[in-house]
Amino acid sequence: MTLHSEDIQMNIYQCGDEAAKLLPVSFDEWEDRARKQLAAAPFGYVYGAAGSGDTHQGNVDAFQKYRLRPRVCCDTTKRDLSISIFGCKFPVPFLLAPIGVNTILHPEGELAPAKAAAKSGVPYILSNVSSISLEEVAKEMGESVRWFQLYPPKDHELTKSFLHRAEAAGFSAIVVTVDSTLLGWRETDLRNAYLPFLTGQGMGNYFTDPVFCSKLKESPEKNVKDAALKALEEGNNTCFTWKELDFIREHTRLPLLIKGITHSDDAIMALEHGVDGIIVSNHGGRQLDGAVSTLDSLPSICESIQNKIPVLMDSGIRRGADILKAIALGASAVLIGRPYAYAMAVAGEIGVREVINHLIAETELQLAISGRSSIQDVDKTLIIKVK
Ligand code: FNR
Repeated sequence: MTLHSEDIQMNIYQCGDEAAKLLPVSFDEWEDRARKQLAAAPFGYVYGAAGSGDTHQGNVDAFQKYRLRPRVCCDTTKRDLSISIFGCKFPVPFLLAPIGVNTILHPEGELAPAKAAAKSGVPYILSNVSSISLEEVAKEMGESVRWFQLYPPKDHELTKSFLHRAEAAGFSAIVVTVDSTLLGWRETDLRNAYLPFLTGQGMGNYFTDPVFCSKLKESPEKNVKDAALKALEEGNNTCFTWKELDFIREHTRLPLLIKGITHSDDAIMALEHGVDGIIVSNHGGRQLDGAVSTLDSLPSICESIQNKIPVLMDSGIRRGADILKAIALGASAVLIGRPYAYAMAVAGEIGVREVINHLIAETELQLAISGRSSIQDVDKTLIIKVK
């Protein structure tokens, strides 16, 4: 993919007064537009976090502890944002994070980010609780890179079925999310009495699964609420332990990543249990209130992993500077979450593409202005801790 950061930038400048009518540029503007466009409950579902919201805020604040320290007089005419993970070259150092139940944000649901990702060459991680089935998403994405995220079900047969379906549909890695065996205490959703799954949204993979459907007393068409409750019960997998992770490891030939790690001892355990990648994440502050920020967790995790497997991170990434800081602290790549969810709510596929393009342009400009020409040149020497 050819990157044209200056072109993107100049296009915006040259729009003049028209610029005001265009789509937003900054994260705050996207969030603001989404707030105005969406009903309170779906907006709150994306915006909301666990308990006091401290973890969510802490994720964002943590980036202020570090400053970029640029070098000058370096030739940065040619720039390379590409990275390699599992032997695959990706054009930019970010992926779209798994975000479920997208039909509450846009009628196209997960097809909107899937198409935007495919057109930009950015890998898309499809959520287990997508409203659109993984097969439909795969069909729309053609040969483009996609990973499948799994909330490990209690039922081993269902686990095998999801893994098998993802492999058959051309997903090239499995991301097991382990920080959400129970839903966090989300006060916005409680206040709005809003759990979209109960009306069948976010059930695209469950309601099309032969194993899942074979265990229902009544079909989802007849009794959507009971079917949804059964799916939620599968996901409330509080018995999930490392042994269960071994089961998943044994039943997929795909690279396996574990998402939701913030403790270096867990990173070591995950490595010992055969994962191929770690995603440092606290679910965007939606699970454990008062938890450590992911940027604060990242250095010790990278230290314990010693480059044996890729360490990715998410939670709080809003702009190019954040991406560079995370990479400087040892991340191989980052995941973008809320920024694309808000953009999808505002303008569907076009909105997500806009966010992707702006992030690419901003990251590339940041890289060059900090005196580096390649993501490979980004290391600890680029940042300084100030707090
Ligand atoms: C999420 N996230 C998430 N993670 C996951 O593994 N499976 C999922 O289905 C979802 N669904 C989901 C819905 C919504 C509305 C949000 C905001 C988040 C967490 C997501 O993958 C990622 O970890 C966070 O979004 C990162 O935090 P920020 O950067 O978005 O604040």
